[in-house]
Amino acid sequence: MRILMVCLGNICRSPMAEGLMRRKISEAKLDWIVDSAGTANYHVGSSPDHRMIETGHKFGTSIHALKGRQFCVDDFDKFDVIYAMDKSNFSNILSLAQTETQFAKVRLLFDEVFPKSSKEVPDPYYGTMADFESVYHLLDDLTEQIKNKLINDKTR
Ligand code: 4NP
Repeated sequence: MRILMVCLGNICRSPMAEGLMRRKISEAKLDWIVDSAGTANYHVGSSPDHRMIETGHKFGTSIHALKGRQFCVDDFDKFDVIYAMDKSNFSNILSLAQTETQFAKVRLLFDEVFPKSSKEVPDPYYGTMADFESVYHLLDDLTEQIKNKLINDKTR
């Protein structure tokens, strides 16, 4: 399984989603591939936001070594599933899709756990440390449930 997490800047939500999923699949001894990207190019080559790094550190998930990159069309072939954090990321990714197969790979992260809920992972960038912590816990829950769902789907 090859999973790509996508947000706007690739410095807050998607690197945290990547770090959490990496930790969970490593603990479960799965050989899945996980990466993250941003739809925008503002933070290409940058480390994650220091507030997200600190929050991960506080709760046991390290993301300091990750570097920002921009989502590109090749990602449709490199990954089996592409998770968008919010609806804006979702439509930005879909605007680059050219085939039915590519369209079918793109999902809202929330919808994978709560189908058709259309809920979003809020952007904490202009928020407080409490917002970063709540995004961490939300992503921790969602990635745990998605890991379990993907394991079930594979073995069914
Ligand atoms: P992210 O958050 O999409 O969760 O990485 C943001 C990071 C940077 C900006 C916006 C959102 N920005 O405008 O630079």
